[in-house]
Amino acid sequence: MDFPSTYISSSLKDGKVEVKQIPFLKEKLTSQTIVVKPMYMGLCRADIKEVASTRDIPGDRGPLFGHEFVGEIIFSGDQTGYNQGQIVTFNPNITPKRTTGFAQYFFIEGDKDTLERTLTLYTKTTPLDPPWLSEPFACIVHCVDVLSMHLHKENYSGDKVGIIGAGNSGLMFGMMLRSLGAEVSFYNRGIVRREFAVDKGFFSKEQMKSFNSINGDKDQYYIVVLVPTKIDQTTLQYAVDLVKENGTILLYGGTRRGDVLEGEPQSVDIDRVRRNENYVPVTTNGKHIFISGGYGCTRADFEKAIALYSQHHEEFPLDKLISRVIRLEDLPQLINTMAFGSVDYPGKVLILS
Ligand SMILES: NC(=O)c1ccc[n+]([C@@H]2O[C@H](COP(=O)([O-])OP(=O)(O)OC[C@H]3O[C@@H](n4cnc5c(N)ncnc54)[C@H](OP(=O)(O)O)[C@@H]3O)[C@@H](O)[C@H]2O)c1
Repeated sequence: MDFPSTYISSSLKDGKVEVKQIPFLKEKLTSQTIVVKPMYMGLCRADIKEVASTRDIPGDRGPLFGHEFVGEIIFSGDQTGYNQGQIVTFNPNITPKRTTGFAQYFFIEGDKDTLERTLTLYTKTTPLDPPWLSEPFACIVHCVDVLSMHLHKENYSGDKVGIIGAGNSGLMFGMMLRSLGAEVSFYNRGIVRREFAVDKGFFSKEQMKSFNSINGDKDQYYIVVLVPTKIDQTTLQYAVDLVKENGTILLYGGTRRGDVLEGEPQSVDIDRVRRNENYVPVTTNGKHIFISGGYGCTRADFEKAIALYSQHHEEFPLDKLISRVIRLEDLPQLINTMAFGSVDYPGKVLILS
């Protein structure tokens, strides 16, 4: 195989994103290395948070910057267990020994077991056109499975679920829990994402509520999924208000180290509960509830996400989440304005290499 002498890659340093030509490191092509050529990448809120330095980066897996992508293997070392030409998607929760996926080439190194947990194969029948992203959906699949394990149930028929945050993750939670029988309602701060969800046909106007409705909907939900970019005491209190006695608040995004929900017999470290995927009881504001959470995903979650999308597209129209397509060269400007400016887009931004 002929490799280029240089390729376009992005970098993130001290809040600054750059895209430039860098040398193709042929010396990195060892028996334990795989090189993927991304076909398309997705921009995640976590990428934007890393640019804005508002995300705590776990040392065991490194930064997420450039982690949602689908691509073709163009080099596979003979100890990797993979072959050139295979289409793969990437799980960023396994190893930090990799380069960013916001690039024309992505390098990853590891033993066979690590690579198998990191790169999930697409089969010949996995739909790729129109583009969609399996990683964010695999995290939702994982989180709902964690919840089901704690609640000892797989079916949510008749259960009322409130979702705070109608971003990409919130909408996928809605699709997933609806498919399991739940009756879902959303509470989203701004109108743009509420309208996006209705315009795309994901949910009805009646299901898309503003925060103003929370006061009138107190104590209604068996489960409240909390999935905004940032969880502060106000949004946490919204969840406590909406959930009913003995119900569960499911934490997904937006917690940071040291965040706490005050309660009895003791306050809950909500960031730890989310990262450790615990299920803890607490009495807060006189209400007895449970706090749970999900973090990341596994190869099995990817496989389930891919199967759900491939076989039940009408229930999971994830390709329709894509609202904007840009070129890699345009990434710095877009991500900077989203991290530091007043610009925001509903749906998913897709990046073409
Ligand atoms: N657990 C995991 O494995 C995992 C995986 C992926 C993502 N996440 C996390 O999940 C969160 C949501 O991601 P996403 O993909 O859904 O992002 P997104 O599509 O950008 O949506 C962001 C959501 O957060 C809301 N929001 C932002 N700031 C807010 C505030 N100050 N108060 C209330 N609501 C606010 C937005 O409401 P508006 O429309 O009003 O702006 C929107 O609903 C992020 O924190 C992300 O890091 C977690």
